[in-house]
Amino acid sequence: MSECPYMTTAAGTPVADNQNSETAGPRGPVLMQDYQLMEKMAHFNRERVPERVVHAKGAGAYGKFTVTGDISKYTRAKLFSRVGNSCEMFARFSTVAGELGSADTARDPRGFALKFYTEEGNWDMVGNNTPVFFIRDPLKFSDFIHSQKRDPATGLRDNTMQWDFWSLSPESLHQVTTLFSDRGIPATYRNMNGYSSHTYSLWNDQGERYWVKWHFKTLQGIKTLTNEQASEIAGSDLDYHRRDLHAAIERGEFPKWKVQVQIMPEKEAETYPIHPFDLTKVWPHKDYPPIDVGIMELNRNPQNYFAEVEQAAFEPGNMPPGIGASPDKVLQARLLSYPDAHRYRIGINYAALDVNKPQCPVQTYHRDGQTRFDGNNGGAVNYQPNSFDGPVEYPRMKEPPLKISGDADRYNHRDGNEDYSQAGDLYRLMNAGQKTQLIGNLVGALKPVPRFIQARQIGHFYKADPEYGSRVADGLGIKIDEIIGKVA
Ligand code: NDP
Ligand code: HEM
Repeated sequence: MSECPYMTTAAGTPVADNQNSETAGPRGPVLMQDYQLMEKMAHFNRERVPERVVHAKGAGAYGKFTVTGDISKYTRAKLFSRVGNSCEMFARFSTVAGELGSADTARDPRGFALKFYTEEGNWDMVGNNTPVFFIRDPLKFSDFIHSQKRDPATGLRDNTMQWDFWSLSPESLHQVTTLFSDRGIPATYRNMNGYSSHTYSLWNDQGERYWVKWHFKTLQGIKTLTNEQASEIAGSDLDYHRRDLHAAIERGEFPKWKVQVQIMPEKEAETYPIHPFDLTKVWPHKDYPPIDVGIMELNRNPQNYFAEVEQAAFEPGNMPPGIGASPDKVLQARLLSYPDAHRYRIGINYAALDVNKPQCPVQTYHRDGQTRFDGNNGGAVNYQPNSFDGPVEYPRMKEPPLKISGDADRYNHRDGNEDYSQAGDLYRLMNAGQKTQLIGNLVGALKPVPRFIQARQIGHFYKADPEYGSRVADGLGIKIDEIIGKVA
């Protein structure tokens, strides 16, 4: 309870009556001078900020990350300098295509966004619960998302749009196979893995760079929902996953993930047969075994959903020195896209909000801007270089140079990147029950789609594994022989 026991206006003046508008006589009309009524209505009209254009529905929690494995020879990041180091963190899990009020149990990838408040600044790992993605060129992202959201004419989600795009974009096949597998609907946010999906980098004080992929393995075990279970839950509780995460933490059941990293020396990228920066590919574990580096635990619920979860702003470009990006084209685009989205959605000073604020000194020369709600750096010098002891550069933190070459052009992203083998590997590693579930989910989703699109997509399944294609064709009542001739 604050020291002031009575309610006030936003300006702090006491409110005498919060139940009755000021009117001319008991039957009205309302007087324009009722400032308090105007303030209430005006504030209410501005309560919503735009929802995230993707990943609008989610849930968040705070926790702790602890280093358990030594990777200090690969990175100069202070966080990883010693086993036992730890930092506070914030996680937000989400669905992708649905709006703010949509059902948590939809078949959709899940966002797995993490913010580590390290002593050298925030490290944001903005991943998904899948190790790959639907596209490998960022120019296709908005088209892809349009195809998954609502039909412009009807305002309805539309299977034809989805499968039209996927069947014309075979690089999506690996992710489509993941999405329609049993893991396509996690039982709860606690029962799913997270992945960086992208290749990132680590670099050390000797100027050596390593390419890395991050994995966050659930210690609650993978648990999933069937389509039937998911629809039944959606019928009674749209917020099932958000509720589960909150309730588990309130009960003191703190979910944990084992953090692992796959590490490839920079030079090996030149000869490794799988394109190391292709977001539609994993690095097989036998080539690059995952190394244990830490444990993350979520142990504290937010106090205010809007302030802490809705206003959380993650950026793949937030990386303390020792952690870096890679030439992955999609990652490169994301480095720009996220801060741009935050400036639009929350405003230019989003990074100063409590949930986004680093837990170390922030010393920039940025000033002013809409809703500058802190001290705006008071009277400190606001230009650089200066002669008045303002913060200066720290050259030791410079990332090692990266050799790049090539003529500027629009290169076909399909050249030298096949789309089928790893989708086939995923199909083949599934047990009989998982395969049956995958085929059933695909057949159900493809049923309302025109036959020529079904046929085109079956061709892709067939190229990944003939059994895979034949079983989907069977389920749709299509003769596989008619299709193979056309796709061979
Ligand atoms: P491995 O057998 O060495 O690794 C298999 C990986 O697949 C494990 O990470 C496992 O995760 C995961 N997995 C197991 N069953 C399923 C399933 N039904 N659905 C999705 N993932 C599953 O093989 P490879 O490394 O050669 O990978 C083979 C295929 O496995 C890939 O094409 C890819 O689709 C998938 N995969 C690979 C990953 C990687 O980083 N290499 C990561 C995730 C999936 P878990 O331990 O959680 O069961
Ligand atoms: C959210 C863009 C690919 C994971 C977002 C948002 C944008 C965006 C604009 C909303 C941000 C906000 O308003 O706060 C893009 C673009 C992509 C891309 C342009 C490719 C070109 C990916 C990939 C992943 C991913 C490959 C995972 C590996 C996420 C997650 C969120 C998100 C987890 C939600 C973050 C949160 O919880 O606030 N994306 N995205 N995105 N994206 Fe992407």
